[in-house]
Amino acid sequence: MSTTDFTPSGVLQFGCFFQGVNAGTVWKSPESGSQIDFESFRQMVTTAERGKFAAFFLGEGLRMREHRGRIYDLDVSGRPDAQTLLAAAAAITGNIGLVATQNTTYNDPVDLARRLHSLDLLSEGRAAWNIVTTDNAWTGANFRRGGYLDHADRYKHAEAFVRVAKDIWAGRAVDHVGDHYRIDFTPALPVSPQGRPVLFQAGASPQGRDVATGQADVIFSPFAALEKAQEFRTDIVERTVKAGRPANDVKIMPVAEFILADTPAEAKEREARVRGLQVGPEQAIAYLEQYWGTDLSGLDADGPLPEFDPVVEESDVTRGAMFQGAKAKELAQAWRKEAEEKGWSIRQFATSRLTQPGNSFVGSYDEVADRLAEYARTGAVDGFNISPWLVPSGLDDIVNGLVPRLQDRGIYPADYAGPTLRENLGLRPVG
Ligand SMILES: Cc1cc2nc3c(=O)[nH]c(=O)nc-3n(C[C@H](O)[C@H](O)[C@H](O)COP(=O)(O)O)c2cc1C
Repeated sequence: MSTTDFTPSGVLQFGCFFQGVNAGTVWKSPESGSQIDFESFRQMVTTAERGKFAAFFLGEGLRMREHRGRIYDLDVSGRPDAQTLLAAAAAITGNIGLVATQNTTYNDPVDLARRLHSLDLLSEGRAAWNIVTTDNAWTGANFRRGGYLDHADRYKHAEAFVRVAKDIWAGRAVDHVGDHYRIDFTPALPVSPQGRPVLFQAGASPQGRDVATGQADVIFSPFAALEKAQEFRTDIVERTVKAGRPANDVKIMPVAEFILADTPAEAKEREARVRGLQVGPEQAIAYLEQYWGTDLSGLDADGPLPEFDPVVEESDVTRGAMFQGAKAKELAQAWRKEAEEKGWSIRQFATSRLTQPGNSFVGSYDEVADRLAEYARTGAVDGFNISPWLVPSGLDDIVNGLVPRLQDRGIYPADYAGPTLRENLGLRPVG
């Protein structure tokens, strides 16, 4: 099998993943800071750089989520534009990579390629683009396109989009006639010190994986649990080799959350506190409402799941493409059974879904460092994109307590390998 060609690097890299809209960032704690003020971003990016993180990585949502006809305001929602923010971050840092999530469905290739190229030049080779197709139909309303392109077409479109961008970054003239664009472009900017922006990709379907292994350098995956991460690695190596690339060519960095303390018992206590802040009674009820399609505000979040069936056939479209096919009644029956078996209340059930326990590393610094050593040894992943549950101080524990223990174990870089993100991620030069 082609996976025999794969050799683990033995080293893990960290990125800080700062989401645009999300349920995991605690905003109710007195320690929580602004998601808008540059000071928050300054603190996070400089702390990440002190901890030799490979990248500071911004997710992006172009439209606020709505719930039952209103803006869903129980999550952290809204954050300044990724590229603008990263240009400011470039000016106060010198080594860390700067990754902007941008979707191929609603952007135009020449415009987006030029903006990313500019960030790459201004940061002297530290820019990256996280390619997403965006799984929701409602973003289209911002662009008068409504639910624009189905899942498969989004990926076909993404593939063509990335090919055009690569030509632009290579300084080649583009004469492209495709299903969506006619482009006649003459290059105006020099090639960047790292050849082109590094390409991340997020999207886990078979089509998404093929775009990643055909075009990208790094996959931002949802699979952090060891066994799932190993399965994903096997699949990605096979696809990479099939695409005609060396088995090690595509790096995998799943999203992860760390809840750390000096002792295992303290870490457990801390986890309970964090979960309580992440998923309160209102969030738990709202989560079920997205599937039941009706007002459940009269229910007790500490009581059992509703006994009655959802009033809709399919779950709420605002949950995105992955959920559109979910039959609400069947889902509700399965969930009731699971909650009953585990003795879970609505809040406990919603917490298990909203906080993605498979992506959480909870424990003492030493315990977590030992767990991560297993990832490095097996090569299940090349690193983690850490989504801090607290802004702006959420990286402090990781940088002060975890990173030195990983360095002691020889599984984390002691310093940056070079000035560009491509070098720091151990990627081959652009051919
Ligand atoms: C780990 C991860 C992070 C993502 N981050 C974003 C994001 O920040 N903005 C966005 O519009 N879509 C994001 N997406 C969604 C992708 O754009 C994609 O549309 C979605 O996953 C559906 O594609 P798939 O079926 O291939 O997974 C993310 C997906 C994954 C797996």
